[in-house]
Amino acid sequence: MGKEKKRLYGNKYVNVEDGKLKIGNFSCLDLAKKWETPIFLFLEEKIQENINYISSIFSEIFPQSQGFYSVKSNYLQKTAEIVKEEQFGAEIVSLTELQMLKRIGFDHTKIIVGGPYLPDKFLMQIVQMQIPYIVIYDLIDISRISQTITKILGANSNYCPKILLKFQTKKYTSRHGLHNNKETYKLISEIFKKNTNVEYAGVLSHFGTRLKTWLQYEENMKNLIEIVQKIKKISGLSSKILDIGGGFSNADSLKEKEFRTYLVGCKNMLYQAGFQNSIIFYEPGRFIVEDTGFCIAEVIRVDPIHKVVFLNIGNNYIPKFMKSSLRFYNATRITEAPNSPFDFMGNIPSDQDILIKNYNFTKSVSRGDIIVIANVGAYALTWSTRFPYSFPNILFLSKKQIIEYKTRSNSLIFPNS
Ligand SMILES: Cc1ncc(COP(=O)(O)O)c(C=O)c1O
Repeated sequence: MGKEKKRLYGNKYVNVEDGKLKIGNFSCLDLAKKWETPIFLFLEEKIQENINYISSIFSEIFPQSQGFYSVKSNYLQKTAEIVKEEQFGAEIVSLTELQMLKRIGFDHTKIIVGGPYLPDKFLMQIVQMQIPYIVIYDLIDISRISQTITKILGANSNYCPKILLKFQTKKYTSRHGLHNNKETYKLISEIFKKNTNVEYAGVLSHFGTRLKTWLQYEENMKNLIEIVQKIKKISGLSSKILDIGGGFSNADSLKEKEFRTYLVGCKNMLYQAGFQNSIIFYEPGRFIVEDTGFCIAEVIRVDPIHKVVFLNIGNNYIPKFMKSSLRFYNATRITEAPNSPFDFMGNIPSDQDILIKNYNFTKSVSRGDIIVIANVGAYALTWSTRFPYSFPNILFLSKKQIIEYKTRSNSLIFPNS
């Protein structure tokens, strides 16, 4: 008889083959035996595939577009190396990320930097590396950039970064970025007249993460269009670049037809507003990495009365802030039907450490079972609250090979990445 293979929940890299749960070509039980759990496991090929998927769909709908991977969603160096190999861009908010990109020889012309906090050291590095695009959240940063250029490169330097402005969105919680009011628009015009070694380029409008409906995409576009029109009317400046930010769901959950419909909808709005010649920037994080990451954990206790499964990893490394759609598989009992609801909790001595509630799982789950949690590739380490347990082992899987990115034997006691 041939091998029996069944794909689980649409992710072609997660299969049950001859009664074994496999990620890529590797058995989860074997991985758990070889490396101590908890393990974080990332699929190189899937990262590549997601980048190709998003860049091909964007370049088809917006021929003048450029993508930048939002490094904060998974800032491991290996992830950035894969992005570099795919010749995709990078969006960063910190000096640490910029130094990492420099270390791996990332093409500096494909980097967009910026954010709410631009300390002097960060600005100096941005100027030294001549990063072409800078997003600012506070108008004061424009003159700071201008002064840094003069200080480091002199008054006659050719470096003239393109500045994008981040405005607050219409969400009632939105506070980061510039106010959408007349005062701001007047100031913008004065500031760019005064600081001639920076160039106004356009606007960034990032609505939020995990956008699920067309209404959210539409809201983002409306905001962007309204701001760009006001910048033209009041400040007298033309926006060449429209940056729609990130916020796309993970690649496996965002089906091509649905994704295309959203993007065509955005394009129609932009065309109707007369922006058919604009360059579109997009900054996906979650889309590229969420479904490429898995955690292999172990059951440390089952409470049959409250129907709780305790794992040897919890919110310290799989935090609620990551807003991911977690999926749990029992690798030890993969052929058993998951039809019994359990809560999953972690190993932190706090009642708050809940990973998920009422998740249909294998009834006979027991201490020592190996559990695989899917969709942990984005924001897990970013938002992690640590707790003084040791760092999980981190592996990258290519088609045939396992790369020990960081294992307990080669890591510091409490490293961050
Ligand atoms: C400006 C900007 N761009 C891109 C992203 C990435 O978002 P996501 O991972 O949801 O695609 C973020 C996330 O907060 C952001 O603030």
